[in-house]
Amino acid sequence: MASMADLFQTADWKSEKHVPVIECPDTVEKDTFFDVTVSLGKEISHPNTSDHHIRWIQLYFKPSKGKFAYQVGSFRFDAHGEGVKGADTGPIYTDHVVSTRIKVRESGVLLATAFCNIHGFWESEHEIHIAE
Ligand code: FE2
Repeated sequence: MASMADLFQTADWKSEKHVPVIECPDTVEKDTFFDVTVSLGKEISHPNTSDHHIRWIQLYFKPSKGKFAYQVGSFRFDAHGEGVKGADTGPIYTDHVVSTRIKVRESGVLLATAFCNIHGFWESEHEIHIAE
């Protein structure tokens, strides 16, 4: 029997185009909003066509001292060039990049997951520390 956990892949984002790249400070002020951007293909671009694209990115936060993760956001990318004349003839594409602002009260880890319609589930993480 397969577990969802077994389906998630990870690697170094600098050499694997499917790994979510989480960009935010390593150290933040407690209770103060900061920017977080999650993207794919920062070093090696991932295709964005009707046939091959990133469907979604999800972001979670797990406090260092806690057992459970909290969902930060879920972002769908729904336009990939579909058009009345067929694949890649449409007028619009969404790029697989999302930016948001968060604040935390504890140190922990941001976890990003992403889904490629062909190459499945991918994940990465970024630790966040509260400034002393
Ligand atoms: Fe892919």
